[in-house]
Order: sequence, then structure tokens, then C-alpha cells
Amino acid sequence: MTTPSNPDTTYAPDPAFAKAAHVDAAGYEKMYAASVADPDAFWAEQGKRLDWIKPFSQVSDVDFTLGNVHINWFADGTLNVAANCIDRHLAARGDQTAIIWEPDDPTKEDAKHITYKQLHKSVCKMANVLESLGVRKGDRVVIYLPMIPEAAYAMLACARIGAIHSIVFAGFSPDALGARINGCDAKVVITADHAPRGGRSTPLKSNTDQALLHCKDSVKCLVVKRTGGQTTWTDRDYDYDEMAMEADDSCHPAEMSAEDPLFILYTSGSTGQPKGVVHSSGGYLTYAAMTHEIVFDYHDGDVFWCTADVGWVTGHSYIVYGPLANGATTIMFEGVPTFPDAGRFWDVCEKHKVNQFYTAPTALRALMGQGDSFVEGRDLSDLKVLGTVGEPINPEAWTWYYNVVGKGKVPIVDTWWQTETGGHLMTPLPGATNLKPGSAQQPFFGIKPLVLDPQSAEVIEGNDVDGVLVIANSWPGQMRTVWGDHERFEKTYFSDYPGYYFTGDGCKRDADGDYWITGRVDDVINVSGHRMGTAEVESALVAHAQVAESAVVGYPHDIKGQGIYAYVTLMNDVEPTEELRKELEKWVRTEIGPIAKPDLIQWAPGLPKTRSGKIMRRILRKIAEDDFGALGDTSTLAEPAVVDDLIANRMNRK
Ligand code: WT7
Repeated sequence: MTTPSNPDTTYAPDPAFAKAAHVDAAGYEKMYAASVADPDAFWAEQGKRLDWIKPFSQVSDVDFTLGNVHINWFADGTLNVAANCIDRHLAARGDQTAIIWEPDDPTKEDAKHITYKQLHKSVCKMANVLESLGVRKGDRVVIYLPMIPEAAYAMLACARIGAIHSIVFAGFSPDALGARINGCDAKVVITADHAPRGGRSTPLKSNTDQALLHCKDSVKCLVVKRTGGQTTWTDRDYDYDEMAMEADDSCHPAEMSAEDPLFILYTSGSTGQPKGVVHSSGGYLTYAAMTHEIVFDYHDGDVFWCTADVGWVTGHSYIVYGPLANGATTIMFEGVPTFPDAGRFWDVCEKHKVNQFYTAPTALRALMGQGDSFVEGRDLSDLKVLGTVGEPINPEAWTWYYNVVGKGKVPIVDTWWQTETGGHLMTPLPGATNLKPGSAQQPFFGIKPLVLDPQSAEVIEGNDVDGVLVIANSWPGQMRTVWGDHERFEKTYFSDYPGYYFTGDGCKRDADGDYWITGRVDDVINVSGHRMGTAEVESALVAHAQVAESAVVGYPHDIKGQGIYAYVTLMNDVEPTEELRKELEKWVRTEIGPIAKPDLIQWAPGLPKTRSGKIMRRILRKIAEDDFGALGDTSTLAEPAVVDDLIANRMNRK
């Protein structure tokens, strides 16, 4: 992990921008103070962003005490999330574009502009199709789709009838999909024939068929046509396009309680298999809408583009729910940053006159390496705010983004948050903050971050300090539970540092009081802005017949932020060969998905263990990081000699 340092240069907001912005520097101070002085009054006001069927009278009901953790916001209010994202905009902006869909290959297909009126019809149709398949309030629907409008229709259709969606990123393998279908006991899985991406195609339907081999027979499969490519058809399959043609295009939105779950999203943790993060309806939508408006300084008529996939929380909050709740025009991009060439992002910005652009540092680092010529020549004059998310941004990438993409005129918001938080928790505000490259800087309204001593769990006061990051209070977008396992929820987030929400991140508060995220302090690694549990990769590796044991750690990677470094001990008498190395890489791809493929595999005759048999990951991390000087005390190891062997045979990072 690189140690962040306070830069010499900060970038003050442009006065004209600050004047027109929702929040300027004085406004931030005032509003932040009010938000933490009387949170219920503050959030009651923010809750009015939504249209409620029955207005709430209660605001928060929260307890972080282990054994009694519960988080409720606006609990006696009722609403429908889809109606808030669509119906309430129809009168004033029915003919405005809600979604601009940009295809993978711009040389073969045109963009589509979907108005709020059209969105309403399509969502109602999808809702009626789901109902005809037997989906009812509270039932779970898994969505395994490419980045096509039907993915948004499916999310909003679930919300409309009160079903709970769980999106599985289309890059995940059949095994991972099957585990998630079973994990939430889904009634229906929605998929497409094939998913085009970067000029290549993933056979989603056939992946789904494989996944369903391990699921209950009663699970139905709704298939959207994307490419028209070949698929096999089974008894449990339903043709979406055919059914939608017949379906009614109106559907009454269900009255849901604010605390009814809106969606489940599986994410990796430090132990075990991914957990289903549960988000609420009223609190989540309030928070997504508010952060979308304030953090990106979104104004009516702006075109907003978040380049994420709806398979991640970023896509939920900032492609679909936040922007649509605000009546925005939001872009849904099917492709990748480097196809047809490394100018794709900037082509799309020019073509659709994008005002706010939100992406991941890993994409910026990759594009930066291709040279400035891909940016130059594109008209990016409509850009007003740039954003990043997913991992710390290194100052070089920040400066490139600022100078080359933003021409030194466009503020960058470095947004720190998590799947669990529903929306941004720490970020600069574009009209309020003196920007510091690499720092998420300041808490959003209503958020009280604290730095704790990792050992004593004591609060560290003052500035120029570091420790672990916890949040002292709740906010409406906070996750409510782990699906089907509330105990795991309490244990993961509220047991290490009692009374606080533990983020899993390390952080530093600099001399000015600005926050810098220094990365995960648990066994979670961040690969290209995607979260991966080292335990998951390990369990995939040991599932291979020739692997006896494995330990996985992260190491610094120029483009991905962190790479996956796997130490593998083979079964007795198995020869380590290049062929086996390739096979293991492929094995992990099929067990989890391409994002989990180890970058480096080192054959380890033994792993460093304590006498009680615990693997010393600290040492393995240091070796992977090339930081041999700092191995610390190895005398407590059962067999100190294994460390010398691992150092001698470590894989070259390049
Ligand atoms: C972890 C959460 C939030 C949506 C995307 C990732 C890291 C996220 C930043 C940032 C430094 C960041 C943290 C966090 N992270 N944003 N701006 N600066 N680190 O969501 O998959 O739940 O991962 O990503 O380590 O804990 P996620």
C-alpha cells in the first residue's frame, strides 16, 4: 500500500461554478454541522425528495449494539421505488430521454434514446411478465444480463411489484451464478442469449443453463434476445420478447414499506463465501438520489454518465436509482473503455454531450498509458464534473484526468463508499472543496467518520493520524442485514469495534483534517476496483484435485491497483509445470469468473505457519510486495526455513 502524502497543490473551486452549485464551501460547513447536530430533522427534510404513498412520521430507529443491531429509516412510510423513478416524472418530462443506451460496437449499432414514457411502458410490461411467471411481493429475482435497457427494466419491474432483485455481474461464472440463485432462493432468473462486450461475446444463456443444473427445478428462466445468437431451449425457459409483446403496458405500483428490501447484492468479504448485502427501499433511494444530486452537482437537463456495470453497486445507485429518482438522463454503456479503441469514453462523451462523467481509476490508468492522442480532438466541453470510485486514485492518474480530460477546468470528486453503504460516504463536493489529488477528503452530510487505533479500538483524536476507519452513526443508505444471516451482519461490521460500523478500510486524517483511504485492512483485495475475497480464490484453488493448500494475497499492480498473488502447495508427487499453472488460472476463471484469475502463481513447497497451524499472511503479503526487509519476527514460525524458499522463488511482478 502506498502511503498517501499531502500534495503541494490543491485546486480551489471556480467561483462561478461554486456560485451556481447546489453546495458551496460555506454551505457545506453549515449543512454538515446541521446534519450531525440533529440528524433526524436533517433526514426528515431529505426524505421529502421522494413521493410517499403514506408519509413517514418516524425518521431513524438505529442500534449498533452487538446482539441488537437494527437499522430502520422512515419505517412507517410507504412508497414505490419504480413510481419514484418513473411515474412521478411523466407529467413534466414524459418525452425527455431517461436512458441513453450506447452499444458495445458503435460501428454496427446505433445508440437508443428511451424516454420516461417509453421507460414506463417497458417496465410495466416486464412487471406483468414477471407476475405471469408467478413472481409476487417479496420474491427474489436474479438478473444476469448484459448492459442493455432490459437490465434497467428488470430492476424497476421488480421494484414495481415489490420483488427483490439480485443482479449477478455477467462476468461471473455459472458456478458463481448458481450459488447466488440458491443463496437467495430466487424464483426466476432473467438472462439474455449472449452478451457482447469489447467485440467479444459471452454465452449468458448457456452459462445460466449450466448454473441451473445445480438449482431447484422450479426456478424459471426468462430469456431476453440480445444478439439472436444460438441458444438451447429447455422446459423452464420463457421468451421475454414474445411475452412482452403480449403483455399489458400498465401495471399498478405496489405499496411497499420503506424498510422492505429493494435488492440484494452479493459482495466479497474477508472470510467465507460472498454475502448478500440487503438494501432498503425508502432510505436507500433517498440516499442515492441525494448523493447523485449533490456530489455530482447534477442539475435538471444534465446528461449523466456512470461507466460502471449494473452488476456492481455503483451501477445500482448511479446508473439507475439515483439518476432516475432525480429525473435525469442517464447513460447505460454496454462496452469497454478500449473498444473499438482507447478513445471510446471520449467519443461517447462528445456524442451525447455528457455533463458528469464517473469512472474507475483503473480505467483511467489504462487509458493514460495509451497516450493523450485518444482524448485530444474530441470535444469534451460539456463536461462539468468528473468523478472516480472503487479504489484510491494515484496522483499521476488524478492529474492526467484533471489536465488532459478536464483541461484543468473540471473538478474531480474522488468518492469513497462501499456496496454496504448504498451511496457516497466521503467525497469532495465540486463547488465546495479545495481538491487534493488522491484524497476522498471530507464526510458527506450526516456521516461521522472516526479513526480508531486498530489494537486498542480507542478513538484517535486530532489531525495527522492514521488507523482504521469506522462510522459512528447511521445514514439512510446503510445496508440493513446480510440476506438470511443477520448474525453474520452483526459479526462482520459491529463486533471488532463495538458501537461503530467498521468499514474494513484503513485511513489517515491529514494535517488539514482531510481523509485518505489507505486500503483494506482485512483479507479483501481490490482488483481493478472490484472486490475479491482472498478466501474465495483460495477455496477455488484447493477445490482442484492437484492442489493441497493455497494462500492468496494482493500485491501492487500498475493498472489494476492490486493484483492477485497465489501461493500454491501441490499434492505430494504432483510436478509443478507451466501447463498446470495455466490450468489453475483457467480453473479459477471457471469457478468464480475472469476477474478472480490469479496474476501470479508461486509454487510453495510449504506455507509459513505458526505452531498452531495458522498461516502467517502478513509475511506472504510482504513477499508478494517485494518488501523483504519488513518481514518482522519469523521466530514463532513452525518452520522458519519455508520463508527463505518463498523469497528465493518469488514471482517477478513485471
Ligand atoms: C471498497 C469497497 C463503492 C463502489 C465501488 C466499490 C475501496 C472504494 C474508494 C475511493 C479509496 C475506495 C475501499 C472500499 N474504495 N472507493 N474513492 N478511494 N478506496 O465497492 O466493491 O464494495 O468496495 O473499495 O477499500 O472499502 P466495493
